[in-house]
Amino acid sequence: MNTFETIMSRKSVRKFTEEVISDADLNSILEAGMAGPSAANARPFEFLVIRDKHMLEELGENSSKYSKPMKNATLGIVVCADKSRIFPNAHGFSAVDTTIAAENMILAAWDMGIGSVWLGIWPDESNMENVARIAGLPDSTEPQHLIAFGYPEDPMPNMRGGRFEESKIHYEKW
Ligand SMILES: Cc1cc2nc3c(=O)[nH]c(=O)nc-3n(C[C@H](O)[C@H](O)[C@H](O)COP(=O)(O)O)c2cc1C
Repeated sequence: MNTFETIMSRKSVRKFTEEVISDADLNSILEAGMAGPSAANARPFEFLVIRDKHMLEELGENSSKYSKPMKNATLGIVVCADKSRIFPNAHGFSAVDTTIAAENMILAAWDMGIGSVWLGIWPDESNMENVARIAGLPDSTEPQHLIAFGYPEDPMPNMRGGRFEESKIHYEKW
């Protein structure tokens, strides 16, 4: 797939087979996560990699109301921010950086035939507390995104159309 095909065919996957993602593919996914732009190059992202079935089930059950897909994933990644690298008065920058990291990982995985779904955590304080507790994060680290990965149970789709909306585009002065 070229980049455009990867972007245009990706969709959220919530049902996974039991096939394990190799360490080599995991490393490529993590490399993609660290390759994006970062405000002032602060690179606040930290990644917690989880393969343990009980941990994946616990995260799926108790992170948020909508985190259940993690229960049948073979790999979970908690994308966190190192609080010492969060800009005072510009907390949002760290979330932008970790969001880019998350999407880069999702797209890199998709290109390798690995599906995923983003499970929203930040900025809901109670979701963040749940994940921090389950994952045993130190106080210095803030969980921002949870991503469930695995090989899709259903065949991966081709390029998806129908999402382009001309009405959302505005030119020059609005
Ligand atoms: C910030 C964010 C949070 C999300 N949280 C959840 C979630 O908690 N549970 C879930 O099943 N999907 C979640 N999703 C996936 C969206 O539901 C999905 O991207 C959307 O329905 C569009 O479908 P697509 O990804 O297949 O294009 C989240 C996506 C984003 C970007």
